Amino acid sequence: MDVNDKYALSFGAFAGTYAALRPDWPEGTAAWLAGADFDARPKHILDLGAGTGKLTRTLFELGHSVVAADPSADMLDELRRQLPTVETRVGPAEQIPGTDHEFDVITVAQAWHWFDPEAATAECARVLKSNGLLSVAWHRRDEKVPWLRELAEVVGRMESVSKGPRAERLTVSRPFGPVEESVFDYNLITTPEGLRGLADTWSYVRLAEDREAKLDAVIALGRRAAQPDGRLVIPHQTFCYRTLLTDRI
Ligand SMILES: C[S@@+](CC[C@H](N)C(=O)[O-])C[C@H]1O[C@@H](n2cnc3c(N)ncnc32)[C@H](O)[C@@H]1O
Repeated sequence: MDVNDKYALSFGAFAGTYAALRPDWPEGTAAWLAGADFDARPKHILDLGAGTGKLTRTLFELGHSVVAADPSADMLDELRRQLPTVETRVGPAEQIPGTDHEFDVITVAQAWHWFDPEAATAECARVLKSNGLLSVAWHRRDEKVPWLRELAEVVGRMESVSKGPRAERLTVSRPFGPVEESVFDYNLITTPEGLRGLADTWSYVRLAEDREAKLDAVIALGRRAAQPDGRLVIPHQTFCYRTLLTDRI
């Protein structure tokens, strides 16, 4: 990875806010990513780009043995505050801190777009067991909802700063096989203030020159979209992809 990448590495400076406001990963989604429908046994899982452990937590609570890896030591500090018994390892997807054939499953939540896909694919193949599973997922705000289209106009788009596409069909080369897709509905429940804080965790907002103006517009929009009781429901779709390691390089 490019260690000077200010966007990819921008999260650690506000890990606590990130942990409080970003979407969680429901059990059904995490179970699909762990391949529970074809093998329900607990697995040894590497959560890669684990950040503060949003998906790690659900995998752990489902009974899997999880190792969380991320290049940001600050994000992993926050993860350990929340999940003190989970093993963490500092390192990027392009040089995974793991031994050959170590894991049954690798999960990547909201992070594959920060990776160099070729190097990450080769590294995932190295640390997975034969027939291991690589699962990649993104939450995406449902822009069929008019105020969420307006939100995108206000804040801009993450694709302007990331290294790869997000929430588009995962393409991985051999030795991985065909990619399977599943889409889950997910509602993030917050408040207008929560939406402002959430938007401030988006790297393309936090590092924008007009960050304060964007955040003022976000809270105004949130107040307009909130329910009479003050709650703000943000519909998402969660795009999930998985592929089996079919043979060795
Ligand atoms: C948007 S956060 C997602 C965190 C977590 N998986 C979640 O769903 O909340 C992206 C994470 O990817 C990490 N990251 C950025 N570049 C990376 C790389 N090359 N390899 C592994 N992780 C990377 C960041 O440090 C950050 O923790």
